[in-house]
Amino acid sequence: MRILNSLAGAFGLTTLAVLPWAVLAESAKPLMKAIVVHEYGGPNVLKYEDAPRPDPKENEVLVRVIACGVNPADPLIVSGKYAKEFGTHLPLIPGYDVAGVVEKTGAKITKLKVGDGVYGYALFGGGWAEYAVLAESEAALKPKSLTYVETAAVPLAALTAWQALIDAAKLSAGQTVLIHGGSGGVGSFAIQIAKARGARVIATASTANQDLLKQLGADVAIDYTKTKFEEVAKDVDVVLDPVGRDTLARSYAVVKKGGFIATLVSRPDQAELDKHGIHGASVFSHPDANELTEITRLIEERKIKPVVTQVLPLSEAVKAEEQAETHHTRGKIVIKIADEPKS
Ligand SMILES: NC(=O)c1ccc[n+]([C@@H]2O[C@H](COP(=O)([O-])OP(=O)(O)OC[C@H]3O[C@@H](n4cnc5c(N)ncnc54)[C@H](OP(=O)(O)O)[C@@H]3O)[C@@H](O)[C@H]2O)c1
Repeated sequence: MRILNSLAGAFGLTTLAVLPWAVLAESAKPLMKAIVVHEYGGPNVLKYEDAPRPDPKENEVLVRVIACGVNPADPLIVSGKYAKEFGTHLPLIPGYDVAGVVEKTGAKITKLKVGDGVYGYALFGGGWAEYAVLAESEAALKPKSLTYVETAAVPLAALTAWQALIDAAKLSAGQTVLIHGGSGGVGSFAIQIAKARGARVIATASTANQDLLKQLGADVAIDYTKTKFEEVAKDVDVVLDPVGRDTLARSYAVVKKGGFIATLVSRPDQAELDKHGIHGASVFSHPDANELTEITRLIEERKIKPVVTQVLPLSEAVKAEEQAETHHTRGKIVIKIADEPKS
């Protein structure tokens, strides 16, 4: 107890009677700046403060984060609405998309080494901080042709588009795909992945984003505020739906027999699928280092490029979360945490 109390003194604590070891261990860790959530709620619960730097487990690397992407999932996690489903608990640090430099490796890391530029989708978040951990199964080497800020826009959104179009819908060359929300985070990658696959792309967005749909390679751009998509898109092989509600309900009829609807925000209605002789699935994205490496290859071949429309400092994460909540983001928002390292 004498030793414990002298440790307590070192940390400015008056007593150890109620101090659990976990707390002591946390206070002994070096600190970092982070966005910490101590109570579930809206953007106002995001606190920019000091937090203990994480330690990598044996299958993880510690990453000095240069930039971190922002996704509509961040406000959802912070709201606490899906705490049970996502297995989240407080306090938490949001941020799934990590891009940075490996600072330390766990004992079982075989592919990555200290100093590597990496990026990844951290399943349990933690990216809105100066340091974060990535499991080796979540991380890939960063594309050389992108900055870290651009790189941070990629993981969750591009993997979601990949897993919906390639893994679930098995999109192939020559097929036609209807991509709703083509100007958003997922949609902007989906258009490019579908084009790289050799598919014909019909994409929807509002008036202000018609130019972006075309720049990304859509063969047909539909302004959903002026034209009903079903008047233009008929007999498509695949629909990617990141919108839900009425958009999903009206999508069944535009898919040809044997076709597929992948929805990111809802459950397909089995009766509607049966009625039209089509298939469908809800897609829940997951980290995948191999798929991220495939995506890196397409980036290096200049077939995919992230669209970063807003870059904010870590201290302004509240603004980033407010924008993510609108569901009308053009491309991606990225939080820049440190200067780009000189390579
Ligand atoms: N299941 C999963 O694993 C998973 C993974 C990633 C994302 N998601 C979900 O998928 C959704 C999209 O994610 P995101 O990152 O792409 O979001 P985002 O960056 O906010 O993009 C949403 C896009 O949807 C467009 N949009 C809004 N209403 C529309 C409508 N009625 N018809 C067509 N387009 C419409 C917006 O374009 P305009 O501004 O031009 O309207 C915007 O560009 C979110 O709800 C997110 O939570 C799920």
